[in-house]
Amino acid sequence: MVISSLSFRSTKRFFATVRQSFWYPRSRSDLDTVDKSYENFVEKLEISYPGSDDVDYMSWLRSVRNYSTSVNSEVPDVFYPDQANKTWSLLYARLRELHYLYACDEHKSNLKDLENLGVYTGEKIPQLSQINNWLSSKTGFKLIPVGGIINARSFLYGLAYRVFLSTRYIRHISVPFYSPEPDIVHELMGHVPLFGNEELAEFSQEIGKKSLGASDADIEKLAKIYFYSIEFGIVGDKILGAGILGSCKEIVHVKEDKCDFIGWDTKKILSMDFTLSSYQPAYYKTENLSEIKKSVMEACNLI
Ligand SMILES: [Fe+2]
Repeated sequence: MVISSLSFRSTKRFFATVRQSFWYPRSRSDLDTVDKSYENFVEKLEISYPGSDDVDYMSWLRSVRNYSTSVNSEVPDVFYPDQANKTWSLLYARLRELHYLYACDEHKSNLKDLENLGVYTGEKIPQLSQINNWLSSKTGFKLIPVGGIINARSFLYGLAYRVFLSTRYIRHISVPFYSPEPDIVHELMGHVPLFGNEELAEFSQEIGKKSLGASDADIEKLAKIYFYSIEFGIVGDKILGAGILGSCKEIVHVKEDKCDFIGWDTKKILSMDFTLSSYQPAYYKTENLSEIKKSVMEACNLI
């Protein structure tokens, strides 16, 4: 088609058609067909994977990554070797100390609930099926396993139907306080307690809904809104962001290195880049959860 031969109105119609041409899931079960292939993050960062010389660990890691299941099925349990549970125990103890001091109230109360129900213990890694049972009675969010970081469009499509595409592997025990990519510690100690809160579930879903059929440029904008709120947001003087709450080092950096917090600024956020391999250059703050929800909704409405 030769665009220049169209009238202005037809051109507008043409681009409207292009905008609408992105396939998107019409129901939760349609999520089974979204692209869940994961990025080889480590290769991208040009670093060697911690534990790459541990043959047993690497073979376990591959088996956990290469698994997919239907969104409507129960998620089968993963076998976690003793070494994986030891890594979890070590991190759990330290993260709980830091959460007690610095996590937002919504995160703390849901984490306590998970502990009271015996879903979270410092002994072994909880299974996604246990988390899903808990979430179904809270907000209806559901965790479905993926092998690593997937593309933003598929990830956001999941949120639109209250589905969180989650990793299940855990970092290597030789470097327990570092993971080159999101792992089960990040998902369970950062995200899960927050997805049990209705206000947070709602605005996560709103970001997702906005992504349905969106252009690539708009997907990038929505991913930034998600990134600087749900992953790295601050409320009052407490931490909301799962990207911070799942990392001992980043919690300490944010709270004890006396980082500057900037008031929520959609324009600035949309001009930021994603920082994935080091601390964030800026953390955006609102006074409370209702305010961050309002800011995120307004930002989404601009797209
Ligand atoms: Fe995350």
